[in-house]
Amino acid sequence: MYVGKQEGAMKGRSIQRINHRIIRRPRVLWTNQILRVQKTHWFRGILIMSMVCICFILISAAWASDKKARTLTELIEMFDSSSCKECHEEIHAQWETSHHARSIMGIFMDRYLQKGVLSVKSPKDATKKNFPCFKCHFPQLEYATDKVASEIAAAILSKDKATMSRLNINCLVCHNQKGVIHGHAEKGMLYGTDSVLEHPDEGYKRVKASPIMKSSVMCGQCHGLGPNFEFEHPIQCATLYGSYLHAYVPSGGTKTCQECHMKDADHSCPPDFNKRDEISARLKKALPMEVDTLIYKSQFTPGEIIPMLVVKTKITSKAGHRIPDG
Ligand code: HEC
Ligand code: HEC
Ligand code: HEC
Ligand code: HEC
Ligand code: HEC
Repeated sequence: MYVGKQEGAMKGRSIQRINHRIIRRPRVLWTNQILRVQKTHWFRGILIMSMVCICFILISAAWASDKKARTLTELIEMFDSSSCKECHEEIHAQWETSHHARSIMGIFMDRYLQKGVLSVKSPKDATKKNFPCFKCHFPQLEYATDKVASEIAAAILSKDKATMSRLNINCLVCHNQKGVIHGHAEKGMLYGTDSVLEHPDEGYKRVKASPIMKSSVMCGQCHGLGPNFEFEHPIQCATLYGSYLHAYVPSGGTKTCQECHMKDADHSCPPDFNKRDEISARLKKALPMEVDTLIYKSQFTPGEIIPMLVVKTKITSKAGHRIPDG
């Protein structure tokens, strides 16, 4: 009993002591604890801030990589318009014969990469800066990293025609990338003349009416808007749009590029300078020539009769710009 009582007393004491500790502890450690609590807050704050920063960096990296292709295959897939062929068969076949379908095949890019201001020691050194020409000849490069530029340089310098022929101005360049003038085209959106709310393509479920699709500036974006001053070595290749704006339009011309070059949405965009007969016939129609001749004999000195000929020619250009131009 006694032992039990003692035990009970001890138990009671120890409980009391524990209670006492529980009650007293905060009072004894008051300042210390505040400091510790503040320290933990600081630590937590820094931890949270750095985690937010890391997340932000990761998200923006993912966003950037979402926008920019890191390999050439990725870039080609990003602008893959092979699905369009299935339903727009005729337009696709016309496009395949157009110069737009082989837009880097005849531009001597290998020479530019070997000599002059755009040259590189090795394809590995090539960056997007080495391709100012691609602003119009392969504008998809805007959506790629410099690594893709070096892959393209390697393909061009090794004359890898299979790869080069895949780099062209395809359906998505005009109906996505270049369908808007200000800002960037929406992902997964097509731009056409009319809007289509339920477009049956798997990747492109909507078509928005673009305000420029039927206007000359659509073509002017590449056919000579001016020198590309954003590059270290600005160049101007095409000048034709200038002549359209400054000569044809002020003299009363009202037709658009599309009305003369894409009648009934003909995507072969004639003329094709490789088809000699066709281009001669077109030029004959576009540049009618009137010829007047006057043949007479003149006698400047007595006894000497000289046959004379006066030829008057008048060429009327029906084109919407200088010819030739480019
Ligand atoms: C499964 C069939 C199908 C596929 C694939 C398809 N289209 Fe279409 N597309 C249509 C049909 C049908 C219309 C007409 C819809 C309407 O007028 O209501 C249309 C309309 C359009 C228009 C709008 C025409 C206008 O009036 O401006 C454009 C531009 C277009 N397609 C481009 C494309 C491109 C580019 C691709 C490839 C990325 C593509 N289409 C893939 C069936 C298809
Ligand atoms: C060089 C730019 C360019 C390229 C490349 C291009 N298009 Fe077009 N497309 C246009 C323009 C501009 C129009 C509007 C023509 C017009 O109505 O005056 C058009 C019209 C269309 C239309 C509407 C046709 C109609 O009858 O009204 C369809 C569909 C279309 N394109 C699909 C395609 C497909 C598919 C491809 C790829 C095979 C393609 N386009 C490539 C510029 C282009
Ligand atoms: C993304 C830039 C781009 C756009 C947009 C564009 N073109 Fe072109 N076009 C080119 C390039 C680059 C070439 C030359 C390709 C080559 O042969 O190397 C070309 C070639 C042509 C040719 C053939 C030229 C010849 O000498 O035979 C015609 C015609 C033409 N384009 C008309 C048009 C029309 C019309 C439009 C507007 C509906 C248009 N293009 C929109 C870049 C463009
Ligand atoms: C009034 C009709 C008309 C208009 C508008 C017009 N063109 Fe032409 N274009 C022609 C004719 C005609 C030729 C000569 C070859 C032929 O008959 O197809 C030509 C030739 C071309 C060539 C070949 C270059 C050359 O020197 O032969 C290109 C590229 C071209 N045009 C693009 C355009 C673009 C881009 C626009 C709009 C800014 C445009 N054209 C506006 C009628 C026109
Ligand atoms: C502002 C847009 C633009 C830029 C930048 C540009 N080009 Fe062009 N280039 C065109 C257009 C549009 C045509 C088609 C004009 C025509 O054929 O009448 C063309 C046609 C050509 C042609 C004749 C096409 C052929 O297949 O024979 C060559 C060659 C050429 N460009 C080389 C270059 C080179 C090299 C560069 C860079 C140093 C360059 N271009 C930069 C728009 C451009």
